[in-house]
Amino acid sequence: MSRLRVGVVGTGFIAGRHLAALSRFDDVEVVAVADPVRERAEVAAARVGARCLDDGAALLQLEELDAVWLCVPPFAHGPLEAAAVARRLPFFVEKPLALDVDTAREVARQVAGAGLTTAVGYHWRHLDVVQRAAALLPAGDVRLVTGTWLDATPRPPWWVRRDGSGGQVVEQTTHVFDLARLLAGEVVSVCAAERPAPVEGEVATAAAAVLTFASGAVGSVCSTRVLGWRHAVGLQVVADGRVVELSERSLDDHRLRVVTADGEEVHRTDADPIAAEDREFVDVLCGRAERVRVPYAEALRTHALACAADTAARGGAPVRVES
Ligand SMILES: NC(=O)c1ccc[n+]([C@@H]2O[C@H](COP(=O)([O-])OP(=O)(O)OC[C@H]3O[C@@H](n4cnc5c(N)ncnc54)[C@H](O)[C@@H]3O)[C@@H](O)[C@H]2O)c1
Repeated sequence: MSRLRVGVVGTGFIAGRHLAALSRFDDVEVVAVADPVRERAEVAAARVGARCLDDGAALLQLEELDAVWLCVPPFAHGPLEAAAVARRLPFFVEKPLALDVDTAREVARQVAGAGLTTAVGYHWRHLDVVQRAAALLPAGDVRLVTGTWLDATPRPPWWVRRDGSGGQVVEQTTHVFDLARLLAGEVVSVCAAERPAPVEGEVATAAAAVLTFASGAVGSVCSTRVLGWRHAVGLQVVADGRVVELSERSLDDHRLRVVTADGEEVHRTDADPIAAEDREFVDVLCGRAERVRVPYAEALRTHALACAADTAARGGAPVRVES
């Protein structure tokens, strides 16, 4: 069987998880990795027996590639995707799609124009506990959604800068907004407030958003980065006579708690959702599966919602979420 030849751009934390998964697949060969931090790229390349480059744009010109994984920080999006589209190279891209919504909209336009197969790293959607939660919440049943991302400030130096990450709501809490859309449907408007950082140019230390869903459900999503530990990352959904709660302790520890008047049940999974999303994308590219769960256009809706929450928090006025 011929193997799918892939490249990985960016060799930091999340690329390590993708490389670990991809290098375990018999039908995939990682042919090249790229990162401007040469030592990091060299370690990653040696681990999987790939070529090492220090320029993502150069990797995207390699003729032998069948697909590419873009695992770069938010500020680096746009040119890499444009280069992939220009040569019709399918790509997997990590969330968030970009620092802002305009860059992502332009990429979405290019992807649609080329009819390109894409996938985005909203990994929660690949968990069985999330599918189980969705099955417990038929459309229209949801009344209230309460989401949180209460955590420490991530270590990468770009993260704390607004022009590096886009802020916690756009960079991290986007996973919670994605779950909210999946379980309660589209959001039509958002009001929000934030507590700005004491240092100019740094991302807010806390934010709170109030959401109105097209179904009439309402919700809130709160974020903070001032703790020394991950305290609460997840979503609580209330339907008539039922609470369905999803939480993430780490990438390998997700939980579903269902509470009714009859009692409660808890399901925990240590399944690897990063490997699952990679497997799905490879299967689609090899013709063994029909569709990607989160193609670029679907991820754009979540990104637009997170960006709307961020805009509302900074501007103070309610923002309508464009469909
Ligand atoms: N799905 C998830 O749960 C999850 C978890 C962690 C990170 N992420 C996302 O993955 C992205 C990267 O996060 P990370 O934690 O791996 O960050 P990181 O800082 O550990 O790694 C990013 C790497 O990209 C490199 N880079 C920057 N610009 C580049 C360019 N133009 N070309 C090639 N490489 C470039 C950096 O040098 C760095 O090594 C972020 O958008 C983050 O939100 C997703």
